[in-house]
Amino acid sequence: MLIYSDFSLKESNTFNIEAKAANYIEIAGLDDIENFVRKRKYFEMPRLILGNGSNILFTKDFKGVVLKNIMKGIKVQKEDDQTVTLKVSSGENLDTFIEYSLKNRWSGLENLSAIPGTVGGAAFQNAGAYGAEMKNYVVEIEYYDFEDFTLKSIKAEDCKFGYRTSVFKTDFLDKVFITAVTLRLNKKFTAITSYANLEEKLKEFTVLTPSIMRRVITAMRNEKLPDYKKLGNAGSFFKNPEITKQAFEKLSSEFEGLKNYPSEDGKIKLSAGQLIDLCGFKTTEAGSKVGVAQNNALIVINLGDANGKDVLVYAKKIEKAVKDKFGIKLEPEVVIC
Ligand code: EPU
Repeated sequence: MLIYSDFSLKESNTFNIEAKAANYIEIAGLDDIENFVRKRKYFEMPRLILGNGSNILFTKDFKGVVLKNIMKGIKVQKEDDQTVTLKVSSGENLDTFIEYSLKNRWSGLENLSAIPGTVGGAAFQNAGAYGAEMKNYVVEIEYYDFEDFTLKSIKAEDCKFGYRTSVFKTDFLDKVFITAVTLRLNKKFTAITSYANLEEKLKEFTVLTPSIMRRVITAMRNEKLPDYKKLGNAGSFFKNPEITKQAFEKLSSEFEGLKNYPSEDGKIKLSAGQLIDLCGFKTTEAGSKVGVAQNNALIVINLGDANGKDVLVYAKKIEKAVKDKFGIKLEPEVVIC
């Protein structure tokens, strides 16, 4: 196991932000985790587990040890007429896995196409897009527990999955390493078409297949999200805020045309992108190193050579503007480190 010092994380985060890890270790399997925990000096440092770095903002160098997850492997565990159950190593790229599953005619995850993260990362934060959520396909998650040095597994129903969250993002944070995710996929395709204008986009197809769905979703996503290789970003920077029905009625009497979606517990979900848009952030000040995407103000972008602090300052400016105008507190969706 190699331990790198002062390792640049620029290539390891989709914001393309320069930050250094004091120590950096690649984890390719359980052996590497066990080797790491035996090295007391490193084990006692603050640690950060990194997948594809597609949902993180580095605002400073990381003083401890970064564990980069490169665990690979896909195994079919069970199969019947209707479903297939697969154990997928957490470092597998989600989109590559989706492509592989569709080639085998296993559907379910197609609406999550083109999300630039790992399978482990997607489970960690219950990634969601276009009406699908990771939690609906997870059977169980295997993880290494740094507190008692054992490999365990937790059933989906105990994972406390919610909107972009899970037990791994809360109670288990920094205490465990997700090693594999067991997913159940379908052999019979049922399209999820409920999301906003998705149905409209699908009208031109007489037959709908998982691959067509994947193509349409990928195109929709690419329309909204700039390519992070050209303009660094981490997808949605904030969560869409949820407010009570009463609060929504009051707000919408003041501001016409607010997008709103029913959410859990009778709450109403607003579009953070629209709120940010209405605060005027699509017009970027000359010389600014940070901005928002023209097609979706929820995507904060590194316009070139921003550092993490520049992005954070800009995000705070957005938070303040939305709070001042609408009285709504936006919560970051990205992990700020
Ligand atoms: N809108 C505006 N102006 C904007 C942006 C959006 O008016 O600048 C309006 C749109 O017209 C649309 C609504 O707001 O009616 C919602 O926008 P969109 O469908 O693009 O979805 P979103 O709220 O921006 C969420 C997820 C995305 C996910 C898409 C599709 C969150 C925080 N974000 O984005 O997830 O891909 O829906 O399901 O829930 C991510 O988590 O990083 C992410 C990209």
